[in-house]
Amino acid sequence: MLTNLQQQPADALLALIKLHNDDPRADKIDLGVGVYRTGQGETPVFGAIKAAEKKLVETQDSKAYLGPEGDMGFVHALMPYIFGKANPDMDGRIVGMQTPGGTGSLRLALAMAQRAGVKRIIVGKPSWPNHNQICKDLGLEVFEFNHAGEDGKVDMDALRSALAAGGEGDAVLLHGCCHNPTGIDYAPADWDEIAAILAKSAVLPIIDLAYQGLGQGMEEDAYGLRRVLGAVSEALVCYSCDKNFGLYRDRVGALYAVAKDPAELGAIMSNGHALARANWSQPPDHGGAAVRVVLEDETLTAQWLDELDQMRERMRQVRARLAEAGKTGGVDLTALGSQNGLFSIIPFTPDQVQAMRKEHGIYFAGSGRINVAGLTTGNIEKFIAAVAQVTG
Ligand code: LMR
Repeated sequence: MLTNLQQQPADALLALIKLHNDDPRADKIDLGVGVYRTGQGETPVFGAIKAAEKKLVETQDSKAYLGPEGDMGFVHALMPYIFGKANPDMDGRIVGMQTPGGTGSLRLALAMAQRAGVKRIIVGKPSWPNHNQICKDLGLEVFEFNHAGEDGKVDMDALRSALAAGGEGDAVLLHGCCHNPTGIDYAPADWDEIAAILAKSAVLPIIDLAYQGLGQGMEEDAYGLRRVLGAVSEALVCYSCDKNFGLYRDRVGALYAVAKDPAELGAIMSNGHALARANWSQPPDHGGAAVRVVLEDETLTAQWLDELDQMRERMRQVRARLAEAGKTGGVDLTALGSQNGLFSIIPFTPDQVQAMRKEHGIYFAGSGRINVAGLTTGNIEKFIAAVAQVTG
């Protein structure tokens, strides 16, 4: 029976981890999978998380099951940051549950939407490859529109037409901030317009917020999400703490549902719980509990926000240096200075991607997506010189 299974290609992004690890060159550079790195090229555990973990070890008195919704203290503690301190549950219209990372949240959101009658997901192109992969696995149709134009700006015309053509049975999957893979985000005025369009549309908004705090700031990065939620009657929000709390391998995420009427939330979330039970039963606890401990403690919260500010500031400096390099060989890096988050795309040809790997030991996705956090004071000049040589 099992011999019927066909060989599957390795996930292209995750395969980069091994390709880079296997390269013996000491000056190799990893710009592949999206993890933050310090100026020394390290991905340390946040100080606030270390302190919270210590506290957890000392005080946790049980590891008994919590249920499919996970740690609801964690789920609630995040809400003021995501939905705003003034009215974090929008008058009782929002309920959430913990999920294994942003991927777990997306899996549940898309499966719940499907149960509700959604058949087609409208998504910008390019998007994080796992978006399409999950849709495909669930048997959902994907309708793609152009995320950004040749000019490096968001293609609002493409989004307008995609939404105009959508209706009942459709959902739109939007990146809340730090667009993965392009780094090209909607401006506040674009979000105002998107919210106004969605207010009049039957298309269900699903917002993926996986990088809050890594773009312009915690509040700024939530602008689009809050505008949309303020305008529509229903939505799903997929949240990840993997990047903004540095908890990658602990898989820490949450799914929130926004309903027209608080009375509908019980039925809506019972589907999330049932789907979780069938997929992973209950989410892993440790990372979510550590986030809760941070957010319940004012000092640790301030420490976490400070660490997040430093990460964002470092990425801004890397982006500023790339922008300053400007025209480099056959490509122009100027736009990277105004893009957001960990990722940007440099228009390398497939041959150039291979040349960067083989000749220079520089690893990034075949799409030309680089993780700017992989660039440090020690390797950024080598990277710029390699880009000039390979594309020139
Ligand atoms: C990425 O895009 O590199 C990250 O979101 C990590 C992942 O799981 O793909």
